[in-house]
Amino acid sequence: MKLDDEYKVIIESFDMNGLGVCHIDNKVVFVENAMEGEEVIISITSIHSKYVFSKAIKILKESPNRIMNLEETNKLSGEADLIHVDYETELKIKENKVKTTIKTNSQYTLNPIIKSDNPYNYRNKVMMPYQEIVDSDDIRDVVYGFYQKKSHNVIPIENDILTNEISSKILYLIKRYLVLFNVSIYDEITQKGIFREVMIRNTKNNDFMVVLITTKNYDFSRLIEMLTEEFKEIKSIYLNINSKNTNVVLSDDFKLLYGTPTIKENILGLNFEVYPASFMQVNHKQCEKLYSEAFRMADLKSDMNVIDAYCGIGSITLNIAKKVNHVYGIEIVPDAIKNANNNKIINDISNATFICGACEEEIKKLVNKEKIDLIFFDPPRKGCAKEFLDTVISMKIPKIVYISCGVSTAARDIKILEENGYGLKEVTPCDLFSKTSHVETVCLLVRKDTK
Ligand SMILES: C[S@@+](CC[C@H](N)C(=O)[O-])C[C@H]1O[C@@H](n2cnc3c(N)ncnc32)[C@H](O)[C@@H]1O
Repeated sequence: MKLDDEYKVIIESFDMNGLGVCHIDNKVVFVENAMEGEEVIISITSIHSKYVFSKAIKILKESPNRIMNLEETNKLSGEADLIHVDYETELKIKENKVKTTIKTNSQYTLNPIIKSDNPYNYRNKVMMPYQEIVDSDDIRDVVYGFYQKKSHNVIPIENDILTNEISSKILYLIKRYLVLFNVSIYDEITQKGIFREVMIRNTKNNDFMVVLITTKNYDFSRLIEMLTEEFKEIKSIYLNINSKNTNVVLSDDFKLLYGTPTIKENILGLNFEVYPASFMQVNHKQCEKLYSEAFRMADLKSDMNVIDAYCGIGSITLNIAKKVNHVYGIEIVPDAIKNANNNKIINDISNATFICGACEEEIKKLVNKEKIDLIFFDPPRKGCAKEFLDTVISMKIPKIVYISCGVSTAARDIKILEENGYGLKEVTPCDLFSKTSHVETVCLLVRKDTK
């Protein structure tokens, strides 16, 4: 077997990320964009000692659960790797991913996945790179879309399936402006040009924030007029100047060009101010369902002292404050803590304390302060630091509600907790990232010596 070799195969199953799986010469072969039960011609893309990667190049017998043909799938799957799979099958893939990843000694209940009512157009934050193209007649055009896998070529997409309709229209108007006013587009290879990317954020109330990312200062007054005349929903426009040749899209250099510095979000009845760099869950409706499930597991009581570790702008912290005695939110990003303290005032909450720093360090300061009854963890995809888990274990906190966007790191952390006095009781997957293989989970762990 060598690269680009072609084989006719039958896909035996899905792997846990929704890749097709088959066997050739006793080797496991993973197949991009192929579905269980399909008969497919594949082409080998990389060879490893125990497994092989390949992509589907022709479908001979199609799955009844396929909703997009192979050509379109190959074009769009870089952004949404389950784009070709119907929603029921997608949910089964995700439930199976959680079930096979969280291997435990505890007899826990795996609840059904929390479905989304609309698996499309749900993102409340989009980032789109722009690129210049010149055709054979030397006519210049500007496109925007997603980077092709393992490359920096933009695949043009005007109506992306995950982006909401207004954001799509805003992106298109910006493209028209860039063409009409001949604004140069940044080229990563020559490192010349001005315009790089656009970020758009929106909230439940339909307030929009637009961030124009450039390599240097530029007069966008005409674009601002065009945008605000056409879209009354735009409440805030920023310029972000990022002159570095880097994969990090946003710099710290934000300038407010129009409107208010923040837009307002409402989560489960509380108000939150969103700055351009604030962390918010990308799927608002599913985020509310996720938090509600976490609060059900927590069984909040008015005499409880609680920690919300990795708290971001305090969306969990402040939502539980009114139901408990006191809550401490810990977060490493200083701006997020500034934001959280402001959100505390807006919502008239007095029993929440926000602490800025790394959870693994800051939690130690709470060890002898007061008895903690419950802790929420909502770490980034890499999971919790071991040092943080050691302190939680030493504090003998009776109950943990672990929210995770990285099920394999959650499984690793749960194993450590199980080896140190905790039992896993419940796991609920939640579809926060429809059409992609990412899955959010919320898990309840209880100390075995808790009465
Ligand atoms: C998945 S987000 C969760 C935020 C929040 N709970 C929410 O639902 O919006 C993870 C947060 O952890 C923060 N973070 C990352 N590493 C951290 C650390 N070592 N200590 C404290 N916070 C950290 C990030 O800045 C981010 O705000």
